[in-house]
Amino acid sequence: MRGRLDNASPIRETEYMDALAGVGIGTGAAMDAAAFVVELTEGLEQVLRRLTPEDTLRAETDGDLTVESLLLVALRNELEATEIAARWMATTPEVEVKLAFARQIGDEAKHYRLIQERLRALGVNLAGFNPLAKGYGELYLYLTTLSDMVERIAAAQFTREAIATVWNAQFIAFCERQGDGETARLYREVVQVDEAFHHELGKKLLARYATTPEQQAKARAAVSRTLELAEEMQNLYVRQGMRHAPGC
Ligand SMILES: [Fe+2]
Ligand SMILES: [Fe+2]
Repeated sequence: MRGRLDNASPIRETEYMDALAGVGIGTGAAMDAAAFVVELTEGLEQVLRRLTPEDTLRAETDGDLTVESLLLVALRNELEATEIAARWMATTPEVEVKLAFARQIGDEAKHYRLIQERLRALGVNLAGFNPLAKGYGELYLYLTTLSDMVERIAAAQFTREAIATVWNAQFIAFCERQGDGETARLYREVVQVDEAFHHELGKKLLARYATTPEQQAKARAAVSRTLELAEEMQNLYVRQGMRHAPGC
């Protein structure tokens, strides 16, 4: 079975750093925060393009993969995203950032509920289903180690949400190939809109708070580590036959 990184070799942390260097980000003096975010975004997008194989939108044989099995993976991702934002809301001093996490808590919990409803409509019995029965994922565990506000914004909102929009686009294409226009619509019209908003929120907050060389270095490292862990998640999905799993 071919994976989502079919046409790409593994991303390494140094590669992301190289991407940043390629667009002119040094590691010494602080640059203007807005300019920092513009260039951080260019570096991120450069790596994300590699997470999007050219054959993503091409019809393929998807084997035993079903929309339902992937939506169950999505439930875990949505729950983890809800929970990390809730933990951080309580331990972040700035009110503006607290409220950004609060917004995210509401949106991710809403995604969870909508996905549950969609699964029920598809005939899946969720009684007794616990999306965290096998424990938390590596990315979630990494996020729990972040205590710095700028690192948190860079990892979860700026990066994880951007990755989610890439994965969700692949999931939408998969749903359409399976003839499930309703799930595709849910993702296109609701989930993707919110995840894109969370990423933009991350950009806005980084432009406000990533103002020192130390903060910018932390943000850069958090972006890099998150991308690495996302790639590991993606490879794990592929090994488990769960390629096209949505993000959150
Ligand atoms: Fe999100
Ligand atoms: Fe979500």
